[in-house]
Amino acid sequence: MAPTRVVVLVSGGGTNLQSLLDAEATGALSPATVVGVISNRPGVRALERAAAAGVPARVVDHREHADRSSFDAALRREVEAFGAHLVVLAGFMRVLTATFLAGLEDRVVNIHPSLLPAFPGVRAQSQALQHGVKVTGCTVHFVDAGLDTGAIIAQAAVPVLDEDTEESLQARVLVEEHRLLPAAVADLAAGRLRREGRRVYRQP
Ligand code: GRF
Repeated sequence: MAPTRVVVLVSGGGTNLQSLLDAEATGALSPATVVGVISNRPGVRALERAAAAGVPARVVDHREHADRSSFDAALRREVEAFGAHLVVLAGFMRVLTATFLAGLEDRVVNIHPSLLPAFPGVRAQSQALQHGVKVTGCTVHFVDAGLDTGAIIAQAAVPVLDEDTEESLQARVLVEEHRLLPAAVADLAAGRLRREGRRVYRQP
């Protein structure tokens, strides 16, 4: 099977990017291969991770664009330049609009640190603590023009402990993110996912 070319969008630390690179190194991402990384912020750790793995990286700085549509168009051009089949948002902290997403239906996925539809948007772990939930987790979902609203591909649950802080909960959720995201990307690349409306089925 021809490799599925994956471009990863990042904004910061890039531990989810690292989980994809590590999975590729062991063969667990196959038939997907990470061909490029794009950050909306210069100087972030995720760019160092890309360099260490020998993966080309670009910066499309949102601050250099007057509006969201111009940023999205520039981002889309870089994604096309990498010849991407699949775009993975891994700690990418910008909401994408139809300008970016047009024609990429079911080819853009995001990892979010909650059991969606609970706690969309920023600081999901803080939202979980504020609501007093006993279980939270993470979700891989297709990206649409809403905020963390696309069809759900995979989820993993994580317990919330009485002594948790935002940081300790974030760390426990990240362990599951790093397992869930590469598995979902491999499933998508291998054609093991079938979507009907909002429901995504995994066939072995
Ligand atoms: C992760 O929790 C991800 O789900 C969220 O932002 C965090 C970024 O982590 N969107 P990293 O940059 O992959 O380390």
